[in-house]
Amino acid sequence: MSERPLAVVVLAAGQGTRMKSSRAKVLHKLSGIPMIGHVMATAQALQPDHVIAVVKHQRSDVSLAASQYCPDTVFIDQDDIPGTGRALEMAIGALPEKFSGDVCVVSGDVPLLDSDTIMAARGHHQEHGATATLLSAVVPDPSGYGRIVRDDSGLVKRIVEDKDASNEEISITEVNSGTYLFDVKAVREALAMVDLRNSQGEKYLTDVMEIINDREGAVHAIQVEDFWLLEGINDRFQLGQLQLRLNRMIVRGWQLEGVTIQDPESCFIELGVRLAPDVEILPGVQLLGQTRVGEGAKIGPNSTLRDTKVGERSRLIRTHAEGADIGADSRVGPFAYLRGGTVIENEAKVGTFVEVKQSTLQRGVRVPHLSYIGDAEIGEGTNIGAGAITANYDGVSKHRTKIGSNVRTGSNTVFVAPIEIGDGAYGAAGAVIRRNVPPGALAVTVAQQRNVEGWVDANRGATPPAAGLQEESQDRK
Ligand code: UD1
Ligand code: CA
Repeated sequence: MSERPLAVVVLAAGQGTRMKSSRAKVLHKLSGIPMIGHVMATAQALQPDHVIAVVKHQRSDVSLAASQYCPDTVFIDQDDIPGTGRALEMAIGALPEKFSGDVCVVSGDVPLLDSDTIMAARGHHQEHGATATLLSAVVPDPSGYGRIVRDDSGLVKRIVEDKDASNEEISITEVNSGTYLFDVKAVREALAMVDLRNSQGEKYLTDVMEIINDREGAVHAIQVEDFWLLEGINDRFQLGQLQLRLNRMIVRGWQLEGVTIQDPESCFIELGVRLAPDVEILPGVQLLGQTRVGEGAKIGPNSTLRDTKVGERSRLIRTHAEGADIGADSRVGPFAYLRGGTVIENEAKVGTFVEVKQSTLQRGVRVPHLSYIGDAEIGEGTNIGAGAITANYDGVSKHRTKIGSNVRTGSNTVFVAPIEIGDGAYGAAGAVIRRNVPPGALAVTVAQQRNVEGWVDANRGATPPAAGLQEESQDRK
């Protein structure tokens, strides 16, 4: 493409009233990335000379989110004059005075538009020497959108907003996507002539089309086949619809990369997730944040993993994990809860109704049933009996439990931290371990059992257990 300089302007000052949210519209997320992030990433991909975002509503949150995806963005505050035209006017005012080239305008609320589509439009724009080129689409339900009014030659005569359209215009099904390329000089001059006389009392960007025409410019419209690429989000229904579509695309993308996804409609995979070939995903799985799943691992059904790493061939069943790191050939669940700082090395097992946080379970460790492991370190090959609790909290601060390798603890053990259990030690059932256990020792803390012979007969003579005992002794006679 030509050497003509490019500036991208992102319009993101609107409040998004129709979202009925305390959060600015463009901060609502799709597949884990805020709307504005999708748009800024597209802006970045165009490799422009300048990126300007116009903000106002929740400006600090919006600009923080935006600059994460396009670090060199310049932010401009829109003043009290409302409308997309005013927003663009202020953005152009922030460009260097000598800037001459193309201005590409995109909306912060059109998240799925990709840079290839914009690049193609720019090609057309330059090839035809157009003054303005916009992306449009023919849609079954045009309500809410600006309508494209074309002249006899097929060029755009003007755009009329939904709220200002006549009965005749309202039936036009070709709509404005809010994505444009302009010659900077022409649009700067046209914007200066736009007034606020319309049903919303706003300075409409769309009004420049008619002005450009009056001044002998040419406005082209390129129809895009996949309209959902251009779809704007104004309310939560539209947010939901686009989210559904984007998720389908993401799921399909992973399927084509060699991931088996049994029930695509019930799986939600955010954009930051990475999956290796031969991963298998069962129904009802959410993979979120920066989750990574290694080759041949199997996840689900009904699991949620956020920022979690799963090693090759590991198997997670009905697991909720956030910030966990699981090695290869390990098994987790069903019904396991892995919290931040959980490290499970290779060939380990975390079983049913087990919660783990801030703990390292070395290779081959097994915690098969009903346990809470917090702030602990467990050495290789150790088996933790059912019902273990690391009592890590004394009511004021948290303490660590250190368990050596090849330890065997009995069922229902409480480790009162801070505590250390030596390598190869054993624990008796029901132990409440308050003192360190040396390597190879057996820790017994429960009082010796005492059986009082004949107690039931003597003390509970008229109860069913006693009656049973009498029958038994009759039979024996
Ligand atoms: C706009 C277009 C309409 C088009 C539709 C496509 C105008 C007048 N209308 O309508 O033709 O069909 O987009 O989605 O442009 N914004 C600002 N400052 C403002 C007002 C809005 O920066 O003062 C930003 C918003 O944050 C948003 C974008 O501009 O990201 C579009 O604004 P919105 O109010 O959603 O315009 P629509 O009514 O959808
Ligand atoms: Ca909109």
